[in-house]
Amino acid sequence: MSAALIDGKQIAEQINTENAAEVARLKRDRGLTPGLAVILVGDNPASAAYVASKDKMCARLGMHSEKIALPSATAQAGLLAMIDRLNQQENIHGILVQSPTPKQISEEAVFAAIAPSKDVDGFHPLNVGKVALGDPSGFVPCTPAGVQELLARSGVAVEGAHVVVLGRSRIVGRPVSLILSQKARNANATVTVAHSRSKGLAEICRSADILIAAIGVARFVKPEMVREGAVVIDVGINRVEDPTAPKGYRLVGDVDFDAVKEKAGLLTPVPGGVGPMTIAMLMRNTIRAATMRCGLA
Ligand code: GUN
Repeated sequence: MSAALIDGKQIAEQINTENAAEVARLKRDRGLTPGLAVILVGDNPASAAYVASKDKMCARLGMHSEKIALPSATAQAGLLAMIDRLNQQENIHGILVQSPTPKQISEEAVFAAIAPSKDVDGFHPLNVGKVALGDPSGFVPCTPAGVQELLARSGVAVEGAHVVVLGRSRIVGRPVSLILSQKARNANATVTVAHSRSKGLAEICRSADILIAAIGVARFVKPEMVREGAVVIDVGINRVEDPTAPKGYRLVGDVDFDAVKEKAGLLTPVPGGVGPMTIAMLMRNTIRAATMRCGLA
């Protein structure tokens, strides 16, 4: 049997329609235009593409955006000074520094320098703490929030389910495990966090009702790691060489899609699964940051 696919692009489109309506309402009723600053340090082509798509989405939704490209040799102090200026800037409600940054820059220092009220990535220690505590006043990181929303809008019951999260990163694995285990709507799951050092990884993954692959290795999840009929959410975006592809490479996920689709019940494709959801949730977080700044939320 072949898995049904979750159309992340279509679900993200619904959310962006809601986002655009909210932006229009804020402009009309409050004279408020949500603004996002996206900083890219260096010239990693994948990061440049993500930053461009965030900027484009702001324009589409009628939001203000500033795309700031800094050279790869930028010193940490220079980047922190830039963040400080944006922290003070009235028309900017959200600030994002694209990860990964060049090695002379500590991401910990960068994320901690962003004002928590403008931290639409949810990477500041205060927001990480709020997510860990289940305090809804914080910002939830965009990809984990997107995964939760994708499951909810696809009618997948998370409550009581065994969710196995493969990966423990700051950006995806750790926060998605926290939000899905919370005592809250679209959560209340039994969550296992597994990773590259886990013993008996295949068996752990096979025990999942919902398997979330965020390990950062192309086609890592094989059919023997998936229970028949399980829901599989592929968070990975990996470039693999393919001389027959127009750009010489192809994007694949952390799941061996062609093989796993014969075993899973429901599966997200790459591209067109989680990716578009991340941007939709970033826009939602930025709109929320703007409304909070103006005392409206
Ligand atoms: N790199 C990959 N995903 C993300 C993200 O969600 N935010 C930032 N800032 N960088 C990323």
